Amino acid sequence: MTMTVQKHSLHGHQLMAGEVPFDVAEMFFSRTDERGVIQAGNGVFRRVSGYDWEALRGAPHKLVRHPDMPRGVFWLMWDEMKKGRAIAAYVKNRSRDGRFYWVLAVASPTDGGFMSVRIKPTSEILQTIIPLYNELLEAEQGGLQPEESAALLLRKLGGLGYVNYMMFSSFALTKEVQSRAKRIEKPLESWQNRFSAMATAILEINNETKEMLDAFRAIRTVPMNMRILASRLENAGGPISAISVNYGAMLDEMTNWVHTFSRGADSPFARIRDSILTGQFLAFVALVQTEMTRRFGTQTANSSTEVDVPAESRRLKMQATEYRDRATRALKVVELEAGNLARSVLDMKRYVTGLSSTRMMCKIESATLEESGEALAGIVDQLDFCQHAIESRLARISELNGLIQSNTAMLRATA
Ligand SMILES: Cc1cc2nc3c(=O)[nH]c(=O)nc-3n(C[C@H](O)[C@H](O)[C@H](O)COP(=O)(O)O)c2cc1C
Repeated sequence: MTMTVQKHSLHGHQLMAGEVPFDVAEMFFSRTDERGVIQAGNGVFRRVSGYDWEALRGAPHKLVRHPDMPRGVFWLMWDEMKKGRAIAAYVKNRSRDGRFYWVLAVASPTDGGFMSVRIKPTSEILQTIIPLYNELLEAEQGGLQPEESAALLLRKLGGLGYVNYMMFSSFALTKEVQSRAKRIEKPLESWQNRFSAMATAILEINNETKEMLDAFRAIRTVPMNMRILASRLENAGGPISAISVNYGAMLDEMTNWVHTFSRGADSPFARIRDSILTGQFLAFVALVQTEMTRRFGTQTANSSTEVDVPAESRRLKMQATEYRDRATRALKVVELEAGNLARSVLDMKRYVTGLSSTRMMCKIESATLEESGEALAGIVDQLDFCQHAIESRLARISELNGLIQSNTAMLRATA
């Protein structure tokens, strides 16, 4: 695609050919009824879409639909909103004169319908989304139904590391708000950093868990090697044989713990991850709604007889309050889940202690044996190494969970 040299837009954003100017510092919103028929919006919406209020009001929102947009995205958007949830989505729209504009839309259910607040996307995420939308569009042209296309979108996002759409909404909105803040030189508030720290911590916990499974995999052969050794020692191998059985059982239990901890959508790990990302998303939804409320109240361009500015302002404000409350409630869930995780980690610590005493018994046995003692000592060394890896992973998980707990407490205190 060719870039025009003209810089219509401020803050370093260059317009693409055929793109409608929409400044990074701007924001716009529209509100619809239950069926998606436009009821209200602000002056920027009117200007960017290129329609007069007479044309916008009472028109279905698909008036601005761009043919490049896959239906699956809208299917997902409607599905989430009908469940009472907000959603963030990249949307390419078409203005009246056929030009386009990309937005990150933050859509949410409101009294008697829905509302969408948009910011200009400036982060690198959009560039990963465009080819994905193109694939969906192509599949839809080949007959894929909207619902199936939405499922395909979720699978594709999964491939990019977003395990569910909430995770994507949360990352995309946070990234876009922060990228925008940087461009317009707006300082970040400390609560934003707390959420980022928690989001980073939860991803690190995920990595630690994976490494821990690798450590278990590495010592899986140990009990078997011990049994082989024991059988060579005949009667003298009795204690080692007993230790190996014990060891094998402990490893199974610990591997089981890691699986229970980390696998599936209802595991302690998934629950805390989702509660953090939901809290972050809701807090950022409230942030854009709050800024929209402020901007709308001060926009003289809104003084149109078509839009009841005081009534719309009140609505926006109520929406922002609602989402702030939802974010606070989500933090309560984070607190609860972090408590569960802490208890779960304690269980695992008890297993590790058990592992240590078994290793000690091995050491004692190896001292009583002559030549075979050396082979056993080798096994003990291997155990030492892996046990150390497991212990330090667990300690790190504990530490990260502590970080989540302290950030949650700080956020709850200032909410
Ligand atoms: C509050 C709200 C805002 C919306 N904003 C847009 C929008 O900016 N662009 C768009 O194409 N569709 C938007 N839609 C979705 C449309 O209603 C419609 O589902 C979509 O354009 C797909 O149309 P189609 O299903 O007829 O293809 C919005 C819906 C709601 C409820």
